[in-house]
Amino acid sequence: MCGIVGFSSLDRPACVPLVNGLRRLEYRGYDSAGVALESPDGIKVFKKTGKVAELDKLLKERLGDEENAKCTIGIAHTRWATHGLPTEVNAHPHVADGGRLALVHNGIVENYAALRAQLEKKGCSFVSQTDTEVLAHLVAVFDRGDFLSAVSRALKKVEGTYGIAVISTRHPGEMVVARKGSSLVIGIGEGSTVVASDVSAIVAHTRQVIYLKDGDVARVTPGGVDIYTLDNVPVSREVQEVEWDAESVEKGGYEHFMLKEIFEQPETLRNTIRGRLDKVNCTAILSGLNLPPRELASIRRAVIIGCGTSLHAGMAGKYLFESLADIPTSPEQAAEFRYCNPIIGPDDWAIAVSQSGETADTLAAVRESIGKGALVSAICNVVGSTIAREAGRGVYLHAGPEISVASTKAFTSQVTVLAMIALKLGRARRLSREDGASICAELAALPDLVAKVLERNGDIAKVAEKYSGASDMFFLGRGILYPTALEGALKMKEISYVHAEGYQAAELKHGPIALLCEETPVVALLNDIPGKEKTVGNVQECRARKAPVVGIVTEGDESAAAHCNDVVYVPRTSAVVAPIVTVVALQLFAYHVARLRGCEIDQPRNLAKSVTVE
Ligand code: AGP
Ligand code: GLU
Repeated sequence: MCGIVGFSSLDRPACVPLVNGLRRLEYRGYDSAGVALESPDGIKVFKKTGKVAELDKLLKERLGDEENAKCTIGIAHTRWATHGLPTEVNAHPHVADGGRLALVHNGIVENYAALRAQLEKKGCSFVSQTDTEVLAHLVAVFDRGDFLSAVSRALKKVEGTYGIAVISTRHPGEMVVARKGSSLVIGIGEGSTVVASDVSAIVAHTRQVIYLKDGDVARVTPGGVDIYTLDNVPVSREVQEVEWDAESVEKGGYEHFMLKEIFEQPETLRNTIRGRLDKVNCTAILSGLNLPPRELASIRRAVIIGCGTSLHAGMAGKYLFESLADIPTSPEQAAEFRYCNPIIGPDDWAIAVSQSGETADTLAAVRESIGKGALVSAICNVVGSTIAREAGRGVYLHAGPEISVASTKAFTSQVTVLAMIALKLGRARRLSREDGASICAELAALPDLVAKVLERNGDIAKVAEKYSGASDMFFLGRGILYPTALEGALKMKEISYVHAEGYQAAELKHGPIALLCEETPVVALLNDIPGKEKTVGNVQECRARKAPVVGIVTEGDESAAAHCNDVVYVPRTSAVVAPIVTVVALQLFAYHVARLRGCEIDQPRNLAKSVTVE
């Protein structure tokens, strides 16, 4: 989630350092930006949708030099919307206490609805649709003189994640910051203190930094910082020297955004799942679907529409919906769907899957489905995107901005959302509580399962070295692993420019096997789930043609491993989450092949991140 900057000085105006800090955080992706300045005559707030440059223009128009010189403390934010459309009203900072207090926030307040209801009963009036605004009112309500204690008391009521910075005219010269699940770093400068989501917005001022830890709350002044637990116990944090330059900071120290986003997946999956598993009723809580059990139970058919990686997620959704909820489900390529005069109507549920929420073909398919009277929902990553808005209901990924053109974390979150929808559909029909419970448990364990695959990164890099010179590859999968094979092949094509084909394992012998020889590596998905033995047979057919086989094999399954030239082990899982866990190994395989081939990974030739044309 996006960006926070705070600046506190005795005599230096805060506005320019704040805006420059936001510029350093732009790489994180955002939809709006804002600044709050502490001035002698109150808090001044400036907010704009769009780019930081727009905000800068507004500040130059509205903040005179004389006034600017008096504002030496301030907070700023770039928002990547999770709750509430990307509008000016929803942009941060949010204010409370009659405009005396301003707050910025990164993260998700899971229990914001309940908190908002309580605060409204106390007379607080809200202007935005965001979860964040409750934090501003909560701090104001708890403020009985000590600012840091007020913030601590407020944060103890919060379920979810936060990185926050807050100022108030009741506490001139003070800024309070805190973190839980969303990074915050404090830079100790000469006569000024800077706070930011990451050091890229700090290194221009100082390389002496303190990394706050989850549960820390700190009072920031021009002279420095005092850090406490939420129970007001002082803690000491080491001041560290930053060696990174800003560019490498943006990528979190990774060489490419794609690798950063691959390694982010345990965290992004936590965000996707957060607050959505109902372990009491063994089902999923997806209020955005706005579908009561009766409507869920009456759905006759599902159509999952998408392009590229999102289509592959939809194809995995077919297996999930049909196995967990007995609903006939057809994945549809959006462009094909929109032009084939589709047979779809009021008994059908059309689900559009789109990371960007702007893909032209998928948007057209949504409009076609709406026009034919189908129930339409969207699974998007970008809040307020066109597809999300026109579908009017659905589920957001909460995976954070995906910068690399090759989609990775969006895919795993998309399939996870589809699994949660299938769980919810199933439990509204024939899926038993026991089966629902085991699916809930496995989904909850997903972040750790994916982390285990990431630990194999070195092994995967070694295998990639053996095959990075290939000009053709096959990826074989059966059943729910077939879409994963397609996705692995797409990743390889997109970033390494190797001609890779995803195929149903059984289909290879119906022609494409003619292409196999010792220069044609085959990546076979041999997870120990139903159908594995048949795929082992297909692997033997490949080996008989001297094609080298890289097996993705369940840990401990030495019988399957014995048939492969090289093996990458993945954790044992059921078929439900196998596509999610397995694709991470394929993402890393494609990444290392592309790196070894010297390819431009984040911005591959000919590709765009969002295909907004037909
Ligand atoms: C995936 O790596 C590609 N960048 C591409 O196939 C992408 O998935 C497709 O264009 C759909 O984009 P969307 O999810 O934003 O709709
Ligand atoms: N959940 C908050 C909102 O939607 C913060 C989002 C962010 O991290 O930028 O405004």
